[in-house]
Amino acid sequence: MNKIIVNGGNKLNGEISVQGAKNSVLPILVATLLVDGVSVIHNCPYLSDVDATIKILRYLGCVVSRDGHTVTVDSSTMCRQDVPDCLMREMRSSIVFLGGIVGRMGKAVLSTPGGCEIGLRPIDLHLSSMEQFGAKVTTENGFIVCSAEENGLCGTRIVLSFPSVGATENIILTATLAKGTTVISNAAREPEISDLADFLNRCGAKIYGAGDGTIVVEGVSRLHSAEHTIIPDRIVAATYMIATAMTGGKVCLKDVVPSHLGPIIQPLRESGCFVFIKGRNVTLSSQKQLKRIKMIRTMPHPGFPTDVQAQMMALTTIADGTSVFIENIFESRYKHIGELLRFGAKIHAEGRMAVVEGVKTLNGANVKATDLRGGSAMILAGLSANGITEISHIHHIDRGYEEPEKVLEYLGADIKRVKENEEYTT
Ligand code: EPZ
Repeated sequence: MNKIIVNGGNKLNGEISVQGAKNSVLPILVATLLVDGVSVIHNCPYLSDVDATIKILRYLGCVVSRDGHTVTVDSSTMCRQDVPDCLMREMRSSIVFLGGIVGRMGKAVLSTPGGCEIGLRPIDLHLSSMEQFGAKVTTENGFIVCSAEENGLCGTRIVLSFPSVGATENIILTATLAKGTTVISNAAREPEISDLADFLNRCGAKIYGAGDGTIVVEGVSRLHSAEHTIIPDRIVAATYMIATAMTGGKVCLKDVVPSHLGPIIQPLRESGCFVFIKGRNVTLSSQKQLKRIKMIRTMPHPGFPTDVQAQMMALTTIADGTSVFIENIFESRYKHIGELLRFGAKIHAEGRMAVVEGVKTLNGANVKATDLRGGSAMILAGLSANGITEISHIHHIDRGYEEPEKVLEYLGADIKRVKENEEYTT
């Protein structure tokens, strides 16, 4: 097991581009199952979640090759419709294979994905939506059997009780080749949904309104080969902006989509950062002392993203004043607080609320990554702390960040990835 060691206090300065979006590449790789031919996906980041997705595609019989950040999928050889437990459990979001496999094969057998570090992750909205397409859904011995072999999949009207990202993706994947038209009300509006629709439309699908609350999908009979470039990862971009804010530096993120960062830029400006947007470049600079952020409420897009809650909390631990967080999306997404306290942060959490009282400085500590975004928050705290921070369990971080220690070292951080039993050497 490796660990990341940070010697805090260096300012971050320079220019970087941001990796492709994890939460875009995963559903789009699944969507290649619907294409009767070869799909070429550019800007795919090197992440363990992407590796897990490719493993499942290969298990299903697809021919998948990778050349740098380009992944090519030939799904014409697909020959299976089941995903075994060992593969399902490698990645929490593998439930999105449901729509891809049923959409292509008419039947899917998946082991029930477990919960994870941030919550139970129920899939009731996914399963009830499949039934509204006319599929028969049964769960037996920890497996979900979803079959539309009898009457096929029929377009339908679905009203989501919560704008679930994964459920919206599964519905789009199922509707693309279904007979007739599907209307999704209260659909998720995250940019990754629009990216998925853009890819499918490039393949000949007829999807309208992605990014709005109502999405219309007119079923088509087949999809043809296409190429697509994944959008930049707005969560990773936000993470590096917060790293810059916490170290008092100046960093330009090149070729991002500024409109995806709107919910992050506002609180960063409230904390006293200067954020300058020019075309597709976003530059952040910050003075040393940050100001508190009155209230961070996580909400579905375009609200403040839950995936940046832990990172923004790290920032408020060294801001002047008291900041309040309310985590509205996941029921146990505060596991990083226990680790932030080891740096000397002052945080009190109760239920979905957390109150952060800023301190002058943090002190380096031995901590662990509790989950993907909680792990990135440990790096941020270490960058700003006095002294050495050692972060273990960094496999969580590798699920969503491509070589973060290399990116941060390039910007001036004193950070390295070492073997578990190695010590820090200057
Ligand atoms: C996606 O997860 C993202 N993952 C998550 O990112 C992100 O935090 C989340 O959307 C919210 O934006 C991927 O895209 C791979 P949801 P997903 O369905 O689809 C409840 C990261 O750090 N719900 O929108 O699982 C659920 O319990 C990850 O990159 C139901 O009740 O999120 C949660 O409270 C973490 N029933 C809320 O909805 C359902 O059937 C949001 O879940 C489905 C969801």
